[in-house]
Amino acid sequence: MTGRIPQEFLDQLLARTDLVEVINARVPLRRAGREFMACCPFHAEKTPSFSVSPQKQFYHCFGCGEHGNAIGFLMAYERLDFPDAVAELARLAGLDLPKTGGETPLSTQPLRDCLAQADRFFRQQLRGHPTRQRAVDYLRRRGLTGQIAAAFSIGYAPPGWDNLSRALLSAGATAQNLIEAGLVNRDEQGRLRDRFRDRIIFPIRDRRGQAIAFGGRALTDEVAPKYLNSPETPLFHKGSELYGLYEARNRPGPLPRLVVVEGYLDVVALTQHGVAYAVATLGTATTAEQVERLFRTVNELIFCFDGDRAGRAAAWRALLAALPLLRDGRQVSFLHLPEGDDPDTLVRREGQAAFAQRLAQAMPLADYLFAELRLQANPDTLTGRARLADLAGPLLEKLPEGHFRDLMEERLRQEAQLINTRLRPRSVKATQPADRHLRLTRTPLRKAIALLLHRPELARQALTDDAIRVGGAEPGVQLLAELASVLNAHPGLSVAALLERYRDTREGAILEQLAQWRPEVPDEDYQFEAEFADILSYLRRRGDPDEQLLETLLRRGAPRTLSAEERDALRNLGRSKKV
Ligand code: UTP
Ligand code: MN
Repeated sequence: MTGRIPQEFLDQLLARTDLVEVINARVPLRRAGREFMACCPFHAEKTPSFSVSPQKQFYHCFGCGEHGNAIGFLMAYERLDFPDAVAELARLAGLDLPKTGGETPLSTQPLRDCLAQADRFFRQQLRGHPTRQRAVDYLRRRGLTGQIAAAFSIGYAPPGWDNLSRALLSAGATAQNLIEAGLVNRDEQGRLRDRFRDRIIFPIRDRRGQAIAFGGRALTDEVAPKYLNSPETPLFHKGSELYGLYEARNRPGPLPRLVVVEGYLDVVALTQHGVAYAVATLGTATTAEQVERLFRTVNELIFCFDGDRAGRAAAWRALLAALPLLRDGRQVSFLHLPEGDDPDTLVRREGQAAFAQRLAQAMPLADYLFAELRLQANPDTLTGRARLADLAGPLLEKLPEGHFRDLMEERLRQEAQLINTRLRPRSVKATQPADRHLRLTRTPLRKAIALLLHRPELARQALTDDAIRVGGAEPGVQLLAELASVLNAHPGLSVAALLERYRDTREGAILEQLAQWRPEVPDEDYQFEAEFADILSYLRRRGDPDEQLLETLLRRGAPRTLSAEERDALRNLGRSKKV
């Protein structure tokens, strides 16, 4: 991890970068009006639905929903992490990366060196240490071949307090480095003690294959803990890494899906038995960051957890982490294993074909979600169905806009048999793209923001009008105000650079959606200023105390809403009485 990259640098980088050029070098683009089109590189298609806007410096696929700026494109297309994508664009733009305070890539280099040396050391011990036979026997007993042990660079930490530290210190490492790398601790007397002793070692690698942490398994069941992992270090964050991801990605041949399992040995055993697309979380609940990383590699994930209570809880946590990331084209399913088995024991007993068969029958996320909710709310009764809808509502809210969400909402209506109730005010043919487009801007504030992202020059209009101040309590107004003032302070800022400020935030997710909005008619024929002014005046009305009173009274009196004219008439009536 590098430190935070300053905003001004990202602004400058995105201003110097032409997204069209970046994409065109990888995916040939054809001009279509104001935009450029291509067949989407992120999903299979025959007719182009991938569009790139030179004005916004933003791309969006109408088919699968992938979208982003130049940084996002490199992350998705080249499968780079954020700092690497920034570094690559900086290189293309001829900009030097700024020196960030604290952790620069330079300052972690000694740690990386230590970890690389430790990685080599552990492997050498498995080949040459006098007690190596213990480890070899253990691996044999677990049914691993030498070939698979080599493929995962499995190593051995021999018994003894300081085998590794002595070797690395004499190779030039400092005690401080060894401690920071998570390899060594100091005991009460201040002596250096190896963290991993008498254990089988599983290296955890980063995207480039560099070992950044280790997992160590005890050789007998009497030793606790069974597994000992590296602590969190500047290079290793448990919640964002996955064991086996580097290995899975670097195996020859296509990688259509990944199976997420719980244990190191599950990954290794599955791979040895021909299910060569397994990764493991590192003894913690699946995080959104992990799911996002996995989706940057494949579009299909199968979570495979034990059939016991803990396994079911883990599966539900994984589902929650995955929901916000389920853009169209991405797929998640769940395989619950029989109690008492794990992928390791199962694939050994049943073999590849049977395990692949289980995977093929894994439960799609939608089925799993509703099955779980049906357990919590009895859908045979009316109250049960209402409860089901209550439980499902907030979950479906987490889904990004798209066909999948539409289908899930449809499914909820069926499950809860809420055919004519107001689950969500929506048209019947909700899965039509046009409707999705409308739904994108379903509130005036969303529309205002969409307009502003399409026409950043509207920022002036927003700031000179007092609507934002008056209507400040309305949800979304603060965001609109913030956007307008950033745009005003940085004339010429592209939408891409504006959105970069909101990367990985809740607002960012909404803004990315809204940046996809475009008028139904050619820009020349669209009344941007007039429509924006309408929304501002709506805000002013919302902020007006008289109007609020009127609203309350109307709500109490009649369920029906009034037209704008009727409302004006009523308002004037009130005014004339007052005088
Ligand atoms: P399990 O206890 O399910 O073991 O831990 P396993 O993977 O089946 O291991 P074997 O087959 O007995 O060797 C699953 C994962 O949880 C983490 C490890 O990442 C492990 O692979 N774990 C488990 C720990 O971190 N510490 C422990 O003490 C146990
Ligand atoms: Mn196991």
